[in-house]
Amino acid sequence: METQYFQHKGINFNSLLYSGEHLNYLENEFQVRDEDVFNVTFPKSGTHWMVEILSLIRNNGDPTWCQNVPNWERMPWLEVNRDPSMHVEEQSPRYFCSHLPIQLFPRSFFSSKAKVIYTGRNPKDVLVSLYHFAISSFVLKTPHSFDDFFEDFIQAKVPFGSWFDHIKGWMQMKDHDNFLFITFEELKKDHRGTIKKICKFLGKELSEEAIDLVVEHSSFKTMKENKMSNHSLAPEFIMKKNSNFIRKGICGDWKTCLSTTQQEYMDRIYQEKMKELDMKFIWDEC
Ligand code: A3P
Repeated sequence: METQYFQHKGINFNSLLYSGEHLNYLENEFQVRDEDVFNVTFPKSGTHWMVEILSLIRNNGDPTWCQNVPNWERMPWLEVNRDPSMHVEEQSPRYFCSHLPIQLFPRSFFSSKAKVIYTGRNPKDVLVSLYHFAISSFVLKTPHSFDDFFEDFIQAKVPFGSWFDHIKGWMQMKDHDNFLFITFEELKKDHRGTIKKICKFLGKELSEEAIDLVVEHSSFKTMKENKMSNHSLAPEFIMKKNSNFIRKGICGDWKTCLSTTQQEYMDRIYQEKMKELDMKFIWDEC
């Protein structure tokens, strides 16, 4: 099966999962509700880790939902092609995942009180993780080599376009009360503290025991073993057999994957593309 992309407003999308018609509907007609919560990321930044955390917070740490319902049903993808009425009929609060860049996000969000949690990750680790995902799934075109994929990532030829534009776009929201910026690195460093921060943002008061359960059931080990969270149940047109969706879950994997030339090249591009953003990120230090 050959993966195909189409372009929508200059950005590549997988032809099997998305359509220009649905993307236009979302941007212009979809009605966001004040109670909605959106888990927004550039691919491979920790989207499903956040799905697990949010699923557990919603249930006060009870893992039953996570152990019985696949993650894509617990928190549906906003932009994946579907009958729009499905979302209209859903009860509030609705929780969605989305990789959409800010310029394609539903316009109705910007005049609502709906919440966005945006998880960022070191782009070098995103690149490496996305490369492995491209090899093990049909969501991306199979790369000819790591070097080719490196170029595609830098040139924004991968689905959802430029990592740099994605984060710069969403950071326009950073001072809004209904926006929370989290990083994969922060979650690794202080899993419990970051979960508490998310609870506070959502206005959910969980007991210390409930927080313990959220920490335990969103750990790398538990998620890797949980077939509702590790994508082993994903349809075969999405994931190749025996692929490793919950792969390494570490920070700094790029150090063993990128050549010195690639590291230096990416650092230069990063400096150039991010200079207009007056922000320091946790990955700037490692
Ligand atoms: P790696 O490929 O570097 O291992 P996304 O959900 O956005 O597709 O991101 C997938 C990345 O998040 C993968 O990174 C995966 O291993 C990692 N991940 C998922 N759950 C995790 C967890 N509980 N702890 C740490 N990393 C996790």
